[in-house]
Amino acid sequence: MGSGMKIKGLEFIEFISEEEIKQKIHWLASEIDKHYAGKTPVLLPVLNGSFMFAADLLKDITIPCRVSFVKVSSYEGLGSTGQLKTLIGLDESLFKQDILIVEDIVDTGLTLQKIMGELKSLGTGSVEVVSLLRKKPAREKGVEVKFTGFEIDNEFVLGYGLDYDGLGRNYRQLFQAVIE
Ligand code: IMP
Repeated sequence: MGSGMKIKGLEFIEFISEEEIKQKIHWLASEIDKHYAGKTPVLLPVLNGSFMFAADLLKDITIPCRVSFVKVSSYEGLGSTGQLKTLIGLDESLFKQDILIVEDIVDTGLTLQKIMGELKSLGTGSVEVVSLLRKKPAREKGVEVKFTGFEIDNEFVLGYGLDYDGLGRNYRQLFQAVIE
């Protein structure tokens, strides 16, 4: 893939390279290894967006851990609808477990808020978050992300699992929308 492309009439340019992502994931995994030394956390990747990040992160984590997927969908096109349409996959096997939510990107923090609420009602142990990207609104609202890969502004990004109207998840690097 070259450095730019068009999806559904919108232009995207390369934002974060495959190599930068790899390096950041090595670092995140080592921080997670340190934090959970002696424990067996359950990693909870949030589908669809985090599938690629979760797969690469798990390959770099060396402590024993479990994985359980949940699915949430709150976006249509370029803006948040603010409506969470689905949340599936949480079950009682998470009772008293140390949970690490794996997100691709935290924007408004609404998705996390919803998941946190559901986890509490299941009686989990500790709950932390690892996210590849954190956007400005999350920082401004003080949404806590224990392990953050990249702090970004408000740009709309795609690739490496993230989509624009369902497209673009299949790229190895991250792209940024060119909005004039
Ligand atoms: P939040 O609930 O506003 O924090 O949004 C979180 C979810 O919205 C992420 O898991 C993504 O699926 C989606 N999302 C937020 N920003 C972007 C983006 O720039 N590109 C693609 N998806 C995004």
